[in-house]
Amino acid sequence: MLTTEERQEIEEKIAEYPNRQAVSIDAMLAVQRHRGWVSDESLRDLSEVLGVSVADLDGVATFYNLIHRKPVGKHVALICDSVSCWLMGSDKVRDHLCARLSTPLGGTTADGRFTLLPIVCLGACDHAPTMMIDDELYEDLDEERIEEALTQYD
Ligand code: FES
Repeated sequence: MLTTEERQEIEEKIAEYPNRQAVSIDAMLAVQRHRGWVSDESLRDLSEVLGVSVADLDGVATFYNLIHRKPVGKHVALICDSVSCWLMGSDKVRDHLCARLSTPLGGTTADGRFTLLPIVCLGACDHAPTMMIDDELYEDLDEERIEEALTQYD
């Protein structure tokens, strides 16, 4: 069941858009902000509020990389997995991060602190390789910058 706060945030968004379907992404992100991810139960609740089928919402969530359909760690590190970053050594960044946190790409650390996920271009190709942790973008990554970044998160 959606909380009063979640429902209120979604209703505020609905007031800004021409129809309820247009709020699908914002509504899922609102739930994710509160719960960390969007469960099947949440999709059913959102389906009722928005008048959009669960299948359609799931399709949008699957297409939109920033909606998590499985539980994630306290922080989510999104590692750019597109061409400019490949050319600038993103494989080394990924491998270092995975080794440092002892979890594979797609996994969550044993302490639940980080989930590592690949993502398409983060829009900072001129500073490749890049990653994003929560809402913070990290550019020109090397092992030293990764270490600096990790110290920012408890
Ligand atoms: S390809 Fe990585 S930021 Fe664009």
